[in-house]
Amino acid sequence: MNICVVALGKIGLPLAVQFASKGHRVLGADVSERVVQLVNDGAVPFPGEADLDVKLKEAVAAGLLSATTDTAAAVAESEAVVVVVPLFVDAEGVPDFGWMDDATRAIARGLKPGTLVSYETTLPVGTTRSRWASMLSEGSGLTAGTDFHLVFSPERVLTGRVFADLRRYPKLVGGIDEASAAHGVRFYEAVLDFDERPDLDRPNGVWDLGSAEASELAKLAETTYRDVNIGLANQFARFADTVGVDVTKVIEACNTQPYSHIHSPGIAVGGHCIPIYPRMYLWNDPAATVVRSAREANAAMPDYAVDLLAAAYGDLTGVGVLVLGAAYRGGVKETAFSGVFPTVEALRRRGATPYVSDPMYSNEELAAHGLPGYDGEPLGAAVIQADHAEYRNLTPADLPGVTVLVDGRRVTDPARWAGVRRVVIGG
Ligand SMILES: NC(=O)c1ccc[n+]([C@@H]2O[C@H](COP(=O)([O-])OP(=O)(O)OC[C@H]3O[C@@H](n4cnc5c(N)ncnc54)[C@H](O)[C@@H]3O)[C@@H](O)[C@H]2O)c1
Repeated sequence: MNICVVALGKIGLPLAVQFASKGHRVLGADVSERVVQLVNDGAVPFPGEADLDVKLKEAVAAGLLSATTDTAAAVAESEAVVVVVPLFVDAEGVPDFGWMDDATRAIARGLKPGTLVSYETTLPVGTTRSRWASMLSEGSGLTAGTDFHLVFSPERVLTGRVFADLRRYPKLVGGIDEASAAHGVRFYEAVLDFDERPDLDRPNGVWDLGSAEASELAKLAETTYRDVNIGLANQFARFADTVGVDVTKVIEACNTQPYSHIHSPGIAVGGHCIPIYPRMYLWNDPAATVVRSAREANAAMPDYAVDLLAAAYGDLTGVGVLVLGAAYRGGVKETAFSGVFPTVEALRRRGATPYVSDPMYSNEELAAHGLPGYDGEPLGAAVIQADHAEYRNLTPADLPGVTVLVDGRRVTDPARWAGVRRVVIGG
């Protein structure tokens, strides 16, 4: 098969490499000349994806993967087109389709009869049928469903372990009609391999969800579920604080019963996905009060962590407070919607002087994100925002002057913090 992957980002490039590893000829299309050049040289444009460097080199050397900025031409040569151009959502949950519209118009220009188009970017429910089908039809003069096939197939992998996740999770597909779905299922069966999953009721593989809308909703539902679950855990944690109970012991105990899956409370829910997709869901379903409240509960957590600090430390005016961790989670160099930003803001509102450090970022890199780096200034307190592995062995000797530590992720070892007030969320 000739396959075009549109957008060679953290998801699209591993996908392109995966398809090539199955012997297909893959054309990657990206608007970035830098990305196209690097891929054609067999060099990864971003760090952190397991096995990508070796697999990319192999695919390019075998002549099975090449990249171009000419999306329409790549689409014209392909029987299947997979689209993973990002969609942005603002703070109110309103999607900005700009990049995806540009990509879709370019795809339409190259679209030929019989081609399968699969959107993998997380989308509001209804977008594939209402927006992409008509845009592709207008631009190509072809009729969706009759002349070309159109499916939505959400990408559920985590960056850093894309190849393993592609094997592990069922590939969900939903078509705008039965023929589209059948083509989508056949396509993904030809480009993916699946691990055995005895824990599932159905064999692991490509699962047809029955419609593009069901497939769109599946991605929003699984991610929104996590945000809502964390919101509940955070409310339990705040209540536990008022009654002197350690919430993690309670959650651990609850989860020994097979119907309880309470997630972990913490200072923030960050990243591209979990804080964003509930907002996208709410754009579809504004009456979803549970989703809205959970999002509000999670968004309030950085403020709550700083409230805990102030309650333990006293007046924070003029106090140097080090925020440990700019990344939204441990081990990833990514600050998208990271809790570091509202934590720094909350500290400033309290009159403190916040600094930020992170083992993955230099002070220059932090400054580029608008964050105040740390250069040994005097400190009175510290707040752990990301669960970097490096923080597990942190001791008071690493933070001279600090008399209160708010460990927002429970990564530090309480035994090492004798002499310093260590506060946790829900502790
Ligand atoms: N990153 C994740 O962890 C993750 C996980 C699951 C699903 N997803 C989904 O994948 C989508 C893409 O995420 P990503 O992390 O790969 O993005 P990314 O930011 O790493 O890469 C985006 C790429 O798109 C390219 N691009 C922009 N406009 C384009 C256009 N018109 N035509 C062709 N290329 C264009 C950019 O040049 C860039 O190379 C997300 O929006 C999300 O829906 C992401």
